[in-house]
Amino acid sequence: MNERLETKFLGFKLASPLVLPAGVMGMSFSGLKISADLGAGMVTSKSLTLQPRTGHKGPVIAEFEGGILNSMGLCNPGIKDGLAEIDEFKEGSDTPVIVSVFATSSRDFIALTEEVNSSSADLLELNLSCPNVYDEFGIPLSASKDQVYEIVSSVKDISQKPVIAKLSPNVLNPAEIALAAEAGGADALCLINTVGPGMLIDTLMVKPILFNKFGGLSGPCLKPVALKLVYQAYSVVNIPIIGMGGISTGNDVVEMLMAGADIVGIGTAVYSRGIEVFSKINAELLQFMDENGYKSVITLPKLEKLDV
Ligand SMILES: Cc1cc2nc3c(=O)[nH]c(=O)nc-3n(C[C@H](O)[C@H](O)[C@H](O)COP(=O)(O)O)c2cc1C
Repeated sequence: MNERLETKFLGFKLASPLVLPAGVMGMSFSGLKISADLGAGMVTSKSLTLQPRTGHKGPVIAEFEGGILNSMGLCNPGIKDGLAEIDEFKEGSDTPVIVSVFATSSRDFIALTEEVNSSSADLLELNLSCPNVYDEFGIPLSASKDQVYEIVSSVKDISQKPVIAKLSPNVLNPAEIALAAEAGGADALCLINTVGPGMLIDTLMVKPILFNKFGGLSGPCLKPVALKLVYQAYSVVNIPIIGMGGISTGNDVVEMLMAGADIVGIGTAVYSRGIEVFSKINAELLQFMDENGYKSVITLPKLEKLDV
């Protein structure tokens, strides 16, 4: 890896500003490892729940020209087995790893945090924003600033790892939600989770493509929304941000960094450009820096903050 790509996030040294986000390749130790080996500076596990979940019935992924819809339904092996995968990954890698967890109450988030405390994961991410389990759990927690504050602060009371709040794009007051997470003690924000849910139709079969009908939207069509929401959050909070949503090229990464992100998630582009996407984007980033006279990724400029 090139030292011009090195950066820091919450005290962790990263070989690249690119992050594998939750749910994309992060179900097993090998998915984390291949992403790190191929150029991700930090990796995130699939969102883990207290008990294993089989997720929704297939088809759970539908592609279209703007990206993909997924209705995975938070399938995961449960916190104990998920953390065992992370421990295995950490045995052979220095790459920092975020464990993502999902619950619907402070009590369950606290129980998950206790498990994470005794693991080798480096950081803890609270998935407050999954839109594709709507039928089961209703509106994501991050729609309410009071709930965001309550959950983040109760987790922070006991967490031995830095806490990242993963927020939703599907809210009317994104800046207030970002501020509530910061006020609750979040060490960093991650945004955005998938948009929607949305739907695609199989016109020959006259039925929705996803078995579950609706799914969260990700990929290139998200980029303008993600840039705007990261920029809004950056303008009001004083904690670092992992920016993601439709980022698939080196130039997209530069845009996300300029919008205020400290590091950048590459999710759906892993499917469209292959797992080598991390090394490809690292090379594109270096090319942008060469062409525009930037010595290192940390010297790339940010937009002036919004006047709020
Ligand atoms: C198949 C799939 C599964 C996902 N699972 C999770 C998950 O378990 N937890 C989570 O917080 N986000 C999950 N996400 C959302 C991504 O982490 C990311 O926030 C979103 O896809 C936007 O980034 P992208 O456009 O680069 O994919 C998932 C996304 C996809 C496509």
